[in-house]
Amino acid sequence: MTARIEALQGDITSQAVDAIVNAANTTLLGGGGVDGAIHRAAGPELLEECRTIGGCPTGEARITKGYRLPATYVIHTVGPVWGGGHRREPELLRNCYVNSLALAATHGVRSVAFPSISTGAYRYPIHQAAKLAVEAVRECLRQPTTVELVRFVCFSAGDLEVYRRILGQA
Ligand code: APR
Repeated sequence: MTARIEALQGDITSQAVDAIVNAANTTLLGGGGVDGAIHRAAGPELLEECRTIGGCPTGEARITKGYRLPATYVIHTVGPVWGGGHRREPELLRNCYVNSLALAATHGVRSVAFPSISTGAYRYPIHQAAKLAVEAVRECLRQPTTVELVRFVCFSAGDLEVYRRILGQA
């Protein structure tokens, strides 16, 4: 079965998938951007569960329930802050996608939605980030996995255009 990769514009908190990925920070205690949106939509139990995890290093991923979200799970991953590209940013960003999909597969997840990790407050250039994200996801989906659908949920039309071109769907 060949897994499907798609991109759309929308709000990740409303995606009816098994797991949505959160672009978190190392404390896992919430923040702005997509992190804030996910915590608002999931409700206070999400923060309560996050407190029990005790943080997450950059490039790694942790899984929690989705609570009031349509998604069953939230996979929290911490992207690198862009510092020019010579401080392991590409490797760490790639690790976010690889580790999130690995965690999804251990929980039998079949559909996963990603935001554009690190391209907001963490200022990772969108083109480089999107290219790296698509390549990492394609490589993961070539391995045995329960994941059948990966959806890139772009908040802006501009970001969607970038992902669609890279996916060859523009
Ligand atoms: N749905 C989908 N994408 C969203 C949403 C949403 N509801 N809200 C924001 N985004 C998009 C942003 O437009 C951007 O393209 O998610 C992408 C990632 O931006 P940020 O949320 O700023 O995440 P990041 O750049 O990884 O910075 C993480 O910001 O919110 C804090 O706690 C977070 O410290 C961490 C940092």
